[in-house]
Amino acid sequence: MLPTPSRSHPAPMQSGGCYTANASLQARGAEPALELLALALERVQVSAHPLAIVDYGSAQGGNSLRPMAQAIRAMRGRVGADTSLAIIHTDQPENDFSALFCLLRDHPDSYLDVDPQVFPFAIGRSFYGQVMPTAAVTVGWSSFAVHWLSSAPVRYAGHVWPPMAAPEVRSAFKAHSTEDWRAFLTHRAAELVPGGCLVVVQPVRQVDGSSSFPVLMAWVQDELEGMAADGMIEAAEFGGMTIIVYERTPSAVRAPFADGPFQGLCVRADVVQDLPDPYWTTYETDGDATLFAARTIGFFQAAFLPSLLAALDRGRDETFRRAFSGRLLAGLRQRLLEAPQPLVCPLATQALLLEKA
Ligand SMILES: C[S@@+](CC[C@H](N)C(=O)[O-])C[C@H]1O[C@@H](n2cnc3c(N)ncnc32)[C@H](O)[C@@H]1O
Repeated sequence: MLPTPSRSHPAPMQSGGCYTANASLQARGAEPALELLALALERVQVSAHPLAIVDYGSAQGGNSLRPMAQAIRAMRGRVGADTSLAIIHTDQPENDFSALFCLLRDHPDSYLDVDPQVFPFAIGRSFYGQVMPTAAVTVGWSSFAVHWLSSAPVRYAGHVWPPMAAPEVRSAFKAHSTEDWRAFLTHRAAELVPGGCLVVVQPVRQVDGSSSFPVLMAWVQDELEGMAADGMIEAAEFGGMTIIVYERTPSAVRAPFADGPFQGLCVRADVVQDLPDPYWTTYETDGDATLFAARTIGFFQAAFLPSLLAALDRGRDETFRRAFSGRLLAGLRQRLLEAPQPLVCPLATQALLLEKA
């Protein structure tokens, strides 16, 4: 029998292509980083064979198609038709890699259709360790992944969303996010070839001490409290329902580079940009409240619902899990229809282009 994954690790995105279908916010947020990727692809020193392009935190690959296709086009232009290109998608072991490979086979925009000398691989290991051989990666890309921490620094955070927890819990998450960021950079530095480049885009909070999604996460907490109060879920289950995310501030992202290169990585570009709630922007134009609610709840469900399901007792069957999800999502939907407002905010992104000296 497979071991039950440890709750101290983040849960993967919702499987079966659900994340890909509900990740337009993340795609939008990664757009500024595509420009940095273009710069990286011009600058990078091309030496390794086969040439490895690594996508750290791919989920089911939907948002990887565009940056990977861009990288393939640019590299092909530089190395000629005969050099094999390896595209390596990495994520946690529980990630739905099967959905990723089906997407690569079936999607009309799959990069596999345009270049016979491109070979996809997958690695199911945490990027908070070294996952590729030393000096093997020419180009690295990571989008909307490093705000997921390696583990929860406390057993019971007391809130579903760490930025809204008590001050001492927030401090523990903040300290852990600092360590994780340094670990992520250290391992990527080891993996890059000299002259290799890494582009990382992550959601950030512009104001230290503020929370992203304060209304959405207050509603989620309220719904879960209701389920605990009327006995649908046990206190221990409720207590374990924390999403292991902590967005950094731009200054925390820059901190490792305060005195110059960090582990041989130099910052070549740094772009911070506000990310308005795209579902709300569309709603303001089309006025379709049902669609607005579906998109907003879909975003929450695909990215965060698995973290809550993972805290349910192992003995809970599929029927219970569906009832839990149904009640939570219906509660959120009703609140949103009664009081339409942007929920996926405030948020900004920070994109860094890093070069290995
Ligand atoms: C929000 S999704 C982003 C997916 C995609 N890159 C995008 O831009 O839409 C975050 C992904 O990071 C993965 N992730 C989180 N922590 C990770 C870790 N320690 N190692 C590898 N992947 C991780 C999650 O499993 C998830 O698939």
